Amino acid sequence: MLIKRNPNGIDLPFSSEITPQSVYQGRRQFIARMAATAAVGSGIWEMANREALAQDGPKLAARRNAALSTDEKLTSFKDASNYNNYYEFGLDKGDPAENAHTLRTRPWTLRIEGEVKKPMTIDIDTLLKLAPLEERIYRLRCVEGWSMVIPWLGYSLSHLIRQVEPTGNAKFVEFTSLADSKQMPGLRSGVLDWPYVEGLRLDEAMHPLTLLTLGMYGQVLPNQNGAPVRLIVPWKYGFKSAKSIVRIRLVSRQPRTAWNDSAPREYGFYSNVNPNVDHPRWSQASERRIGETGLFQPKRKTLMFNGYDQVASLYTGMDLKRFY
Ligand code: MTE
Repeated sequence: MLIKRNPNGIDLPFSSEITPQSVYQGRRQFIARMAATAAVGSGIWEMANREALAQDGPKLAARRNAALSTDEKLTSFKDASNYNNYYEFGLDKGDPAENAHTLRTRPWTLRIEGEVKKPMTIDIDTLLKLAPLEERIYRLRCVEGWSMVIPWLGYSLSHLIRQVEPTGNAKFVEFTSLADSKQMPGLRSGVLDWPYVEGLRLDEAMHPLTLLTLGMYGQVLPNQNGAPVRLIVPWKYGFKSAKSIVRIRLVSRQPRTAWNDSAPREYGFYSNVNPNVDHPRWSQASERRIGETGLFQPKRKTLMFNGYDQVASLYTGMDLKRFY
C-alpha cells in the first residue's frame, strides 16, 4: 500500500516513485538480506523448495458454499500465494512468499475478549473444528487496484462471536495480528505502527459473508496468506482482512486501525469497495485481475461493494462518500 504523496505533490505512475522513504529503505534492507541468503549457497534451493512445499500443504476438507461463491475463473494458487501484501514480511509483493517461512503457526491461540460475557482463548485446532468448514469463492479487491478470485476455506465469523456472547455495549470488533519481531523481519520497517489492527462494526462482523478464514485452495493457509487464521471481508478493500490474528476484541467505540492511523485521508474505517469514491491519489473505478496480464487486456469495472450487493442494507442512510 502506498501511503504518501511525492514531495512535489505530483502523482506519479510508478509505485517506486511515490513510495515514502521509510518504505523504500525497508525494501533495500530486504534486498540486501535476500542477497545475503543467496550468498550462503543453499538459499536459492531453499526458496524453490519452500514454494513447492507451499503448494502441497496439509489438506482441509470443506463443502463448497455455492450460494455465496462467485463462478468467475479462479486466480492460480501460484499467483495468490506469490503476490501478497503482508508488510510484517516485507514491502514488495514477492517478499511474504520468500520470508514468511519464519512464522510459527503452531502452537497458536486466539483470544476473544472485551464486551463479552464469556471471554475465551481458543487453540487453533479447536478453532478448526468450531463449525463445519466451507469453501467460498470470493473476489478480493485490493485498494491498490488489483483483484483476485480465491477459494477460501472457513466459516462465518458470527459462529465464533456468538460463542462469547457479546454484551449490549459491544458495537465494534477489533482484530489484532501477531507482531513478533523474532518471526517478522518487516516489523523493523516502521511503515505502520505495529501490531496491524483492523476493525469492523459489529453488524458487519456478524454478516454471514464475513469469513473467519483457515485455508484456501483445499489446504491450510500458506504463511504468506495469513496463516493460521485471518479474516476475509469480501466487500471491503483487502486491507480490512487482517492476517495471522491473535486477538479479537469486542468494544463499544470505533477502534483505531493501523492504516487509518498512518494515512487517515487515504484509508477510512469503512473502506467499502466503492468505484464512486476515488482514493486521493488514484481512481477506484476499475481494477486489474491478477493473472490477466496481456498488454491489451482491458481492466475490469469495479463494482459497488465489490459486487456483494447483499451488504447494501448495512449502510442504508449512510453517506458512503463521507464514511469512506
Ligand atoms: N494483514 C496484516 N497483518 N498485514 C498486512 O500487511 N495486508 C492487507 C491484508 N491483511 C496485510 C494484512 C492487504 S493491503 C491486503 S490487499 C490483503 O491482506 C492481501 O491478502 P493476500 O496477500 O492473501 O492476497
